[in-house]
Amino acid sequence: TLNVHVQQVKAKSSPTLYGLMTEEINYSYDGGLYAELIRNRTFFGDRHGVPSWRLVERGESKAEMVVDKTTGPSQALPYSMKLTIEKATANDPAGISNQGYWGIPLRPRTTYKGSFYAKASDTAVGPVRVDLVSDETGAVLTHTQVTALSSDWKKYDFTLTANAQAPSSSNHLVFSAGNPGTIWFSLISLFPPTYHDRENGNRIDLMEKMAAMKPSFLRFPGGNYLEGDHIPERYEWKKTIGPLVDRPTHPSPWRYHSSDGLGLLEFLEWCEDLQMQPVLAVYAGYSMQQEFVKPGADLDPYVADALDEIEYVTGDASTKWGAERVKDGHPAPFALNYVEIGNEDFFDKSGSYDGRYAQFYKAIKAKYPNLQLIATTPVKEIKPDVIDDHYYRNAQQFYDDVHHYDKTDRNGPKIFVGEWATREGSPTPDFGAALGDAAWMTGMERNSDIIVMASYAPLLVNVNPGGMQWESDLIGYDALSSYGSPSYYAQVLFGEYHGDEIPETSTTGDDLRFFYSVTRKSDTGEIFIKLVNATSDIKPVSIALDGAPDVKNIAKVVTLRAGTLAATNSIRQPTTIVPIESRFERAASEFTYELPPYSIQVIRLETK
Ligand code: AHR
Repeated sequence: TLNVHVQQVKAKSSPTLYGLMTEEINYSYDGGLYAELIRNRTFFGDRHGVPSWRLVERGESKAEMVVDKTTGPSQALPYSMKLTIEKATANDPAGISNQGYWGIPLRPRTTYKGSFYAKASDTAVGPVRVDLVSDETGAVLTHTQVTALSSDWKKYDFTLTANAQAPSSSNHLVFSAGNPGTIWFSLISLFPPTYHDRENGNRIDLMEKMAAMKPSFLRFPGGNYLEGDHIPERYEWKKTIGPLVDRPTHPSPWRYHSSDGLGLLEFLEWCEDLQMQPVLAVYAGYSMQQEFVKPGADLDPYVADALDEIEYVTGDASTKWGAERVKDGHPAPFALNYVEIGNEDFFDKSGSYDGRYAQFYKAIKAKYPNLQLIATTPVKEIKPDVIDDHYYRNAQQFYDDVHHYDKTDRNGPKIFVGEWATREGSPTPDFGAALGDAAWMTGMERNSDIIVMASYAPLLVNVNPGGMQWESDLIGYDALSSYGSPSYYAQVLFGEYHGDEIPETSTTGDDLRFFYSVTRKSDTGEIFIKLVNATSDIKPVSIALDGAPDVKNIAKVVTLRAGTLAATNSIRQPTTIVPIESRFERAASEFTYELPPYSIQVIRLETK
């Protein structure tokens, strides 16, 4: 029996409970959300050569490609790809080709905006042909050309338009010329249409999937990505703003190089597009290979950098960094309530976090007293406003710990469950994981007076071979399509049906692998009962609502269920497990209800 004391409000539920955590991992931005289709667009080279680029020599043509460290379009990009064409003709051109992120997608009747920086040994070497070519047939699917290259670095724009052909992604892009000479290339870019039509914007399907979760915040930029393996590889926000040609790019701890095309302002615009508040994580002097900055004078520049970052986000045009944001194209300041100081600093064996947190805390509070400052692990010197707890577990561990926050001290710091996931299933979690997640979320909801925010992690994964660094990610995709895991749909359900009040509740009887939470919307009187049955049997539940004599008989029910724990969604079968809506017609102040085996359900009760 589940007893709900509708008029006894135990606490207010946090309006910001559900949000998103994100970082550059699993090709989340490059090769994922960030819509750029050209991989390694700035010709970053490593010991294997220049990843993602190949020389093209058609027919009798002859050419060489090599990274030239002596010339580039900007201080940030002081090198370029030098293409030396010894022999070529209009019919047999020579050039370079890019494979994209596991292919370059092409959708019918779609226009793609491209650009590159180039200079040429002489104007006669051009025009540059741009061909989108099918890997399978070698056919040119769409093409254009850019004429008259100059001998100085210059940006060239072009568009490619697809006709009515079927969508495809086994394609590559070729830049070639039909005359002998030398061309230096840099920052070669191609964008499909983006969400809200933003220049340098995001993939539409992924933004829509996130929007359906109704997230209230975005925690960025990490995660380990904030820290980097080494201090010089940390997330340096100042190198991620302004024109793309002024962004130097940087190595990330997840074993691939970041283009930084999705930089600080793009994170903020992502927030704006999905009406989320930013939860800004600032680098706090610790990088993952046990490198730390001693609190005191050594740490001062890092604190100053965080203050500048907050000013870039929140300052108006009269401030130095606010003016910089205005110059970057966003006149209005962003509202900011939370700043997280570091990430998972319990890994810092030196014990320096206490001092580092205190130094950041004092400096930030002095300038921004209203900001809530999140600590990544408990500290002694100062009481943090919020503590960020992380949980990566299996379903059984979550079942066993659903009462984790029931007895947490309400006078201590608030809680941000900034990373959590049931890690069962790969690359995306299976239905058994979704049950573990849902059980854990019922516990978080019942304690959402103290848990102010919670976010699943990681959020995104490119499911191509080599795309994943971390198993069990919420949303999977390849170049052309994307899908939500069962865990994703559990998030959608929980995010959609969430009231602002937590009524007193109690249960009697067998509650083995049965989990619940109840919230109520104070303005409409709607009551959301979330029920989780993690067994293979039907669970009969008696629901008694006291203080609600006027419950309407017809209730909406949304169900996520599967026949087995291993059942899942995938890029080939994206919708095996999705929420199904139905009606329940016997709702009342007291009613009995049968919860299907292996199911997550929301019952939305209306009152008259
Ligand atoms: O979510 C993956 C990683 O897990 C994050 O980068 C880190 O904060 C945690 O250890």
